[in-house]
Amino acid sequence: MAKRTVVSMPGDGIGKTVLPEAIRVLDAVGFEADYVHGDIGWDFWINEGNALPDRTIKLLEEHKLGLFGAITSKPKDQAAEELAPAMRDKGFVYASPIVRMRQHFDLDVSIRPCKSFQGNPLNFIRQTTDGFEEPNVDAVIFRQNTEGLYGGVEWTNPPKQVRDALETHPRMAKFKEVPSEDMAISTRIFSRNACRRIVRGAFEYAKKFGYKSVTVCEKPNVIRETSGMMRAEGMAAAKDFPGIDLWETNIDAQMMWMTKNPETYGVLVSGNMFGDIVSDGFAGLVGGLGFACSANIGKEVAVFEPTHGSAPKYETFSPSIVNPIAMILSACMMLDHIGETERSDKIRAAIAAVVAEGIVRTYDMARMAGRQDVLDKGAANTTEMTDAILAKL
Ligand code: NAI
Ligand code: MG
Repeated sequence: MAKRTVVSMPGDGIGKTVLPEAIRVLDAVGFEADYVHGDIGWDFWINEGNALPDRTIKLLEEHKLGLFGAITSKPKDQAAEELAPAMRDKGFVYASPIVRMRQHFDLDVSIRPCKSFQGNPLNFIRQTTDGFEEPNVDAVIFRQNTEGLYGGVEWTNPPKQVRDALETHPRMAKFKEVPSEDMAISTRIFSRNACRRIVRGAFEYAKKFGYKSVTVCEKPNVIRETSGMMRAEGMAAAKDFPGIDLWETNIDAQMMWMTKNPETYGVLVSGNMFGDIVSDGFAGLVGGLGFACSANIGKEVAVFEPTHGSAPKYETFSPSIVNPIAMILSACMMLDHIGETERSDKIRAAIAAVVAEGIVRTYDMARMAGRQDVLDKGAANTTEMTDAILAKL
């Protein structure tokens, strides 16, 4: 296979720590690639008024494959205050660069696998009549990544045309007396193509990796139109995948069942907000942010990132204490995406071996509070964890 070029975007905080660790593992497993650096994050907001500079977009356009660490994001007014003096009052408005990247490249399919590694002390355990048991969780959440409640079509004090248009709906009658300045509206728009792509993606993944069910997790009994459309597309897709069961759950009930019988679920598919919720929920059962990886996949470009953020409080720790596994598992998803599954399987097996052995554990796995002194108490630092994985390779 031709040598790949990967756009490496460490971003802010611990993104800068964990991304190079993932590249060390990719190198060790013999994945041949050139890495080109892509600027993204807070420094570029402060100095250029743009947290996702055009040059980074160009790199992704050219190479189509990205690894992303994490960025620091702050509310609009705080962001404005932190702009470099020369950049102030020029009309720059802060927007999250990762959300913008997803929108710009239409990275509409987000995949978030949540699998327990045997021996991880953070795994969910369940009380039984005579003790405890540890279910083996292997759930993969497909989250629609660009629409719905995160689509950004929203107003406080909606313009008159918006209000007039909404008032054609009989249910708006109850808001008749509310002044527009006291009204906030966030829309939940689903398009059929996006629903179709996410549910079909989920079924194809289930087929490829041998999952027995796809669960559409929405709320069609109440949110009839949008959730209803996702449900309808789920039913249509299911016809083309005999042998894979279609299940339906409501997001609220799903959160309860998730802690009752998480091992029952295979692939789940949801809109943007519910997908965010249910994937964080499942991630919490299998080790949390230190283990939660994700893919953002569009028709042309794909970017792989841990679910966690920049954890600024750990940025200056030397040596770093954070867990690199979420980033390394995200790099495995990149390998899966380009058909290098033999290499990704090797890396996952090495991680599984380190976790099962239970000797090298970062502070989160040792259930310690995140302070620099965790290293004195026996927690492994970031590079030691990577070294342990490399040793198993
Ligand atoms: P966070 O995920 O950065 O950190 C929350 C806590 O989780 C940390 O304090 C730490 O205790 C733990 N944690 C996170 N990653 C870990 C790792 N690899 N190993 C061990 N422990 C880990 O979320 P927070 O504190 O809410 O946000 C910090 C910044 O990150 C904010 O500016 C936020 O906007 C941004 N953010 C960026 C994301 C992205 O780049 N995709 C996602 C989430 C937050
Ligand atoms: Mg989230």
